[in-house]
Amino acid sequence: MLNEKLHSYIEGLISERNLLFTEMENYASVHNVPIMELSGIETMLQLLRIHDSKKILEVGTAIGYSALRMAEALPNAQIVTIERDVDRIHLAEQFISRSEHSHQITLIKGDALEVEDAVSGHASFDAIFIDAAKGQYKKFFEIYSKYLTNNGMIITDNVLFKGLVAEPVIETKRIRNLVKKINEFNHWLMNHPDFDSVILPVGDGVAISKRRGDRI
Ligand SMILES: C[S@@+](CC[C@H](N)C(=O)[O-])C[C@H]1O[C@@H](n2cnc3c(N)ncnc32)[C@H](O)[C@@H]1O
Repeated sequence: MLNEKLHSYIEGLISERNLLFTEMENYASVHNVPIMELSGIETMLQLLRIHDSKKILEVGTAIGYSALRMAEALPNAQIVTIERDVDRIHLAEQFISRSEHSHQITLIKGDALEVEDAVSGHASFDAIFIDAAKGQYKKFFEIYSKYLTNNGMIITDNVLFKGLVAEPVIETKRIRNLVKKINEFNHWLMNHPDFDSVILPVGDGVAISKRRGDRI
């Protein structure tokens, strides 16, 4: 989102991750697994540290990269994470088992639209991270915001979708439909009566939503 030079400058200042994370980043890059972009995840981790989140729900585990990054950044936090893809579940289990933070992570296997009962057994959550099928963001938000603490926040990734949300014309029908859904979600979110939200132009676009307190 920033110009290339500044983007590279900032990424160049981010310290190297440990060996397991570097292996996961390489795996994701080689096998086209869409893990969160570096500047996006660093921003999210810093927000979670400031917030001192203790119980985090993640929708969209992939290979477990962001779940493990959150666990490492917040050693007192528990992370419940949902994934539906069988191959990715298998990979996530393998990577997570190799980490000293594995005890902080509970992986729920199944479609996030169908595992609410299993997730609710772990509620409540003081942070929710939505990073799964982009066309379903509103549904994920509606289902799981019920389990957010009063002081909780919801972080949603990919809300600027490589800048395509601001493009007037998109040739491919599938991408056009997806962009339409993300745009609808963004408008819905920014006008939500119960949440204050802001969209940060970092990574692939990260929305931060905070439940509104009682207003005097
Ligand atoms: C962008 S990746 C998650 C990346 C991960 N959060 C990270 O940064 O390391 C999205 C993942 O969500 C999963 N997913 C998509 N829709 C889902 C759904 N309805 N329920 C569960 N998982 C879903 C996909 O299989 C994919 O592995």
